[in-house]
Amino acid sequence: MKFFIDTADLNEIRDLASTGLLDGVTTNPSLVAKSGRNFLDLVAEICDVVQGPVSAEVAAVDFDTMLAEAKVLAKIAPNVAVKVPLTPAGLKVCRHMSDEGTQVNVTLCFSPGQALLAAKAGAAFISPFVGRLDDIGHDGMQLIAEIVQIYDMYPEITTEVLVASIRGPQHVIEAAKLGAHVATMPPNVLRQLYKHPLTDKGLEAFVADWEKTGQSILGAAKTAKAV
Ligand code: E4P
Repeated sequence: MKFFIDTADLNEIRDLASTGLLDGVTTNPSLVAKSGRNFLDLVAEICDVVQGPVSAEVAAVDFDTMLAEAKVLAKIAPNVAVKVPLTPAGLKVCRHMSDEGTQVNVTLCFSPGQALLAAKAGAAFISPFVGRLDDIGHDGMQLIAEIVQIYDMYPEITTEVLVASIRGPQHVIEAAKLGAHVATMPPNVLRQLYKHPLTDKGLEAFVADWEKTGQSILGAAKTAKAV
């Protein structure tokens, strides 16, 4: 499963990219507004830091402007994935850009039918929002199960299921169990995945017991080299 982070915070992106665990980044207009940065500059900088797909979302809702914006965004770097909303105009832009060889991430997906349309429009990624469905009392993970099941029936569908609007580590686990290709998560959720109290407790005991040996691995290596 690929791990993307859902943020426009360059410091967070740099920090998590250094772990070697990051496969891509997703942004959206709300995250860009929060960053206070110039959008095009920001996308260029993120693309320098991360080699995988960096989703940059169009702002317009009409076809002509959206297509023009998509072309501007695609020119920023080869790893830009243009993000378009799941609307008739968005899917038309998706088809155009996919045909030109640009990866397209279709966002704001809330139903299996919408996911089918995005696949037919040549989307590289479909972004179903699990958290926002859970928020209104629906079952976000059920949507992921249905999309994965449908896409699996058709080998010609190459669209990757990018689970979005993730609220916690359990969403990531559930998405992985269902075979979703990608999870995009806020940085704190990626960090929470490391955590287990028994890991902390076990490490504390190992460190204490090692100290009792009075040994140093680096010291021993230096001595061995000197001999
Ligand atoms: C995905 O690409 C979206 O940017 C994101 O996951 C939305 O999440 P939210 O529902 O937490 O805003």
